[in-house]
Amino acid sequence: MAHSGPRAKAFAASRPLRGTIRVPGDKSLSHRALICAAMARGRSRIEGLSEGGDVRSTAAALRAMGVEIARDGPAWTVDGVGSGGLLQPEAALDMGNSGTSARLLMGLVASHPIAAAFVGDASLSRRPMERVAEPLRRIGAEVDMAPGGRLPLTVRGLCPAVPRTHRMQFPSAQVKSALLLAALDIPGHTRIVEPVPTRDHSERMLALFGADIAVEGDEIVLRGESELGPRALNIPGDPSAAAFIAVAALIVPGSRLRIEGVGMNPSRIGLFELLSEMGGDINVSNPRESGGEPVADLAVRHSCLRGMEVPPAIAPRMIDEFPIFFVAAAFARGETRTRGLGELRFKESDRLAAMARGLRAIGARVREAGDGLTIDGTGGDPLPGGATIDPRLDHRVAMSFAVAGLNARDPITVADMSTADSSFPGFAALLESLGR
Ligand code: S3P
Repeated sequence: MAHSGPRAKAFAASRPLRGTIRVPGDKSLSHRALICAAMARGRSRIEGLSEGGDVRSTAAALRAMGVEIARDGPAWTVDGVGSGGLLQPEAALDMGNSGTSARLLMGLVASHPIAAAFVGDASLSRRPMERVAEPLRRIGAEVDMAPGGRLPLTVRGLCPAVPRTHRMQFPSAQVKSALLLAALDIPGHTRIVEPVPTRDHSERMLALFGADIAVEGDEIVLRGESELGPRALNIPGDPSAAAFIAVAALIVPGSRLRIEGVGMNPSRIGLFELLSEMGGDINVSNPRESGGEPVADLAVRHSCLRGMEVPPAIAPRMIDEFPIFFVAAAFARGETRTRGLGELRFKESDRLAAMARGLRAIGARVREAGDGLTIDGTGGDPLPGGATIDPRLDHRVAMSFAVAGLNARDPITVADMSTADSSFPGFAALLESLGR
């Protein structure tokens, strides 16, 4: 989605953060709920859907392919067309800033008898798409990309496409999901072998909508051409959004916050586990289930964090949380060392470089080495601050430096806070209201 234009905003030392809040619906789940509902036959009803720009991009693309999506009070209704039922779009599908929209929808189109062009903003147009194009070609789709395997690109689907066994070359839930969504309309069994587990939201969501899917060990098997049924569901709060609020509470002295209804899928909560290990006071209570996913409430208090060596194995379970984790580490006592995070260079921006550069600009002690950052924290003291950070169309970089500003001697200006709208509309206003 297009943003409304750059919105510079300064973030200054805050009073203790207090209150009880909810965060936007999980972005990963929202994309999947819309797509599964679109592939079901009949009307689904989704509450708690993320209304950020990324999910709007997915909704707009589905509409352009014949799916009716409408607002009904607190819910969204989706009139699904049934698997194989997408129509030829008349214009290019605009994915905005959203890699998940692009990759999941490329998979969906790949087994339909249609051709779709995909375009995106400057950030998305720099991101690698060969990782999804290659397996889609193996099932028979044609994928033509701009030089370097980037957007703009065109996917020409094949119907019926070919059932295959795919062995994931590196951990990516987006690529896995593209293949699962393609498989919905492929006759026979599609198998995916995933040596390193990634978020399993697609598997859960497809099962919820009645797909014939089984997971055994590291293998996922989906039998295509079985009909999905419409559902009513409630999307849990996004743990990746809650992460920013939780770290804000940890680093601003005197803070005490409650975040209710947060998704607790084990593949997403690496950050909370790591921060707890570093001495963060994060209490998880009231576990329950919603939309086929575990959910709980979080209570977070200001804490003195201890730096630590971060085991690379935790990375897939907190892959989106490293920008805000680096901010937390900048306030910890002693050194925090991360490595093996090369994938962060392919997100909305090169997050290792962006965070190292930005943290240095606000006076943190940071070294970039071995595809990771080593950060020598302040022990809880404020950072100097006093710099302007250009998030370069990366929502998580923007929100990370906004949070850092809440414990800085001089304000930190984020040159474009509108970029946060892709996952967390209203983020800056919420932070301000918590510290009032
Ligand atoms: C996502 C998967 C991850 C993550 C992204 C959302 C998803 O990307 O970084 O924000 O919803 O499947 P990769 O598949 O590239 O690891």
